[in-house]
Amino acid sequence: MLGKLTLADIPYDNPIVMSAVGFMVLFGLIIFALITRYGKWTYLWKEWLTSVDHKKIGVMYFLVALVMLLRGFSDAIMMRSQQAVALGANQGYLPPEHYDQIFTAHGVIMIFFVAMPFVIGLINIVVPLQIGARDVAFPYLNSVSFWLFVVGVILVNLSLAVGDFAKTGWLAYPPLSEM
Ligand code: HEM
Repeated sequence: MLGKLTLADIPYDNPIVMSAVGFMVLFGLIIFALITRYGKWTYLWKEWLTSVDHKKIGVMYFLVALVMLLRGFSDAIMMRSQQAVALGANQGYLPPEHYDQIFTAHGVIMIFFVAMPFVIGLINIVVPLQIGARDVAFPYLNSVSFWLFVVGVILVNLSLAVGDFAKTGWLAYPPLSEM
C-alpha cells in the first residue's frame, strides 16, 4: 500500500522538517484534548462530520479553505522574505530546490484548496436556497465529495513531512553539473 515509501523516507536528520512535523502533531493533540475536555465528540460527529445538510457541508468547505489559505499564505511569506533577503552574495535562507517547491505548493494550494472550495462551499449553501429545494439532488454524494476533498488536502500536506511537493524546478531539471 505504501509503494516505495519506507521509514527511511522520514527526514529525521532535518531539523526544520522535524520541528514543523512536531508543531503539527502538538497542534493536533491540543485540538483533540480540547474537544475531549469539553465533551464535544458526539456533537461534532452527529451534527457536522456525518451531516449531509448542504449548508453544513458548505460551512465545512469554508473552514478547510480557510486553513489552507493560512498554509498558502505562509508559503507566500517564505517566497517574499527569501526574495527580500537574497541580495548580491547573500543566497537567502531557502536553497533553490526548496524555493521551487514552495512556489509550486503556493500556486497549487491557493487554486485547488482555497479558491475552488470557497466557490464550491458558496454554491452548496446558496443554490438549493435560491431554487427553493430542500437539499442538493444527492446529499450523501455531496458529503462523500467533501470528504474525498479532505483526503486530498491531507495527501497534499503529507509532503510537509515526507518527500517533495512536486517534481519541479531544480528537482526536475537539475543543472548539468549535478547530473
Ligand atoms: C496572501 C497573499 C499572497 C501573496 C503574498 C502571494 C504571493 C505570491 C508570490 C510571491 C508568487 C510568485 C510570483 C512569481 O514570482 O512569479 C505567487 C504566485 C502565485 N500565486 Fe500567490 N500570493 C498570495 C495569495 C494568492 C491567492 C489568494 C491565490 C489564489 C487563490 C494565489 C495564487 C497564486 C498562483 C496560481 C501563483 C503562480 C504559481 C506558479 O506559477 O506555480 N496567490 N503568489
